[in-house]
Amino acid sequence: MSRKNVNTSEQTDQITDTPIEEMNADTHEVKPPKPKKERIIVPKKEVNLVIDAGRSRIKFQSFVDGQSATPVIALDSLVCQVDSLPFGELGAFAMSRGKDDNNKDIVESWVIGNSARFQQKQYVAMSEGENHKVDYFPVLVLGAVASLPNLYDLSTGANEKTRTLTLRLSTLSLASPFALKSAIERCKWIAVDGVKYKLSFGKSGFLGFPEGYGAALHTQSKLDSLNAKTFYTFDIGFGTSTLTEYSNLGKLPKRGMCSPNGGGGIATLIREFSEQISNSDSSRIIRPSQLREILETSTIEDGKVGAVAPDGRFVGDALEVAIKAWIKDSPLTYALEKLGTSGRRHPVTLCGGGFAIPPVRELVCTELLRAGIPENNLLIPEEPGTVALSEMRRLYTGDSNSDNEQQTA
Ligand SMILES: Nc1ncnc2c1ncn2[C@@H]1O[C@H](COP(=O)(O)OP(=O)(O)OP(=O)(O)O)[C@@H](O)[C@H]1O
Ligand SMILES: [Mg+2]
Repeated sequence: MSRKNVNTSEQTDQITDTPIEEMNADTHEVKPPKPKKERIIVPKKEVNLVIDAGRSRIKFQSFVDGQSATPVIALDSLVCQVDSLPFGELGAFAMSRGKDDNNKDIVESWVIGNSARFQQKQYVAMSEGENHKVDYFPVLVLGAVASLPNLYDLSTGANEKTRTLTLRLSTLSLASPFALKSAIERCKWIAVDGVKYKLSFGKSGFLGFPEGYGAALHTQSKLDSLNAKTFYTFDIGFGTSTLTEYSNLGKLPKRGMCSPNGGGGIATLIREFSEQISNSDSSRIIRPSQLREILETSTIEDGKVGAVAPDGRFVGDALEVAIKAWIKDSPLTYALEKLGTSGRRHPVTLCGGGFAIPPVRELVCTELLRAGIPENNLLIPEEPGTVALSEMRRLYTGDSNSDNEQQTA
């Protein structure tokens, strides 16, 4: 048997690959076997995305195979729906969550995070509406997915332009996990920078944790469960100041009582600060977004609050009066009163972005000590603003009890 009958180069290639036994020696005809389609089997990669979509900042981190796949990322909780999708912009993506009358995907384009400010269209801040955090939940989550720096590597598939993303979502939220789940499952794909990612949510693809659960895991790791059967977390966020009780009897902390104290967060402090500033000098107005920045960069030294306005004016005194008024006469006051009694007997972890602001941390702590909470009962994590999210890694990396702070970086 020779190969002389074979004259096209295409066939030659095929025959070269064909084992000799498959050729028919009697008929002189060589039937080229159908080229086998090469099947590329790409193992499914399940991405655990843990997300805390707050009113002022979305915090998230992804894990694959028991390892963190991204560091903790925080983006401003802003969304902007745009007409056409910008390329190469952080937080920009297209998605579909419905079909038109002709059964065609209805495509929506969004930009989330700080980039939402620069789209020359009106953007929506989650802090603006009571229910925005829940209504925009799918957009925030998919925006977080689109912002993963290694999104392409986390997806699977043989085609470079059409990929599959297998997601397991864990959310830290006060909203009903069921409502969030059904809203997100309507989203079938997202497109980022010209690549389409089909979304696949596994059967167990959605876990709802109590808001601030990472802070509870952190507290548990710091306490001896025999001595501290109960502990609290106290989270000053943008909208709320939430006091949560946890039982520390089992392997994982279990949430008991939770009181969110709407209006007890940083938003109310900013309003108070604005009032104090306008009392002292009404001719020069500082916008709320600037006030927030002044607050975030404020300092405290020897009990004296330092804060500087964009024009260089010193506004530390106004801020100090504002923080004290906020502690004494706002929904935060009720939260602190509740904590004042609970914290006497049980340890409490102070967390949330509010405690990342030095003067807020110091003045609130002073108030809690004054209310009779022993100093030993107050635990302040190194990064109070992200602890509720970053310590979730204990559930995904097998880092259950050790106090390894390095892993998230
Ligand atoms: N690292 C930080 N340094 C200074 N200020 C911060 C820091 N992190 C957060 N903040 C301030 O704390 C506020 C509350 O932040 P946080 O991330 O806890 O709010 P949120 O989770 O988005 O809100 P909510 O829990 O009410 O939905 C922010 O608006 C910001 O002004
Ligand atoms: Mg929060």
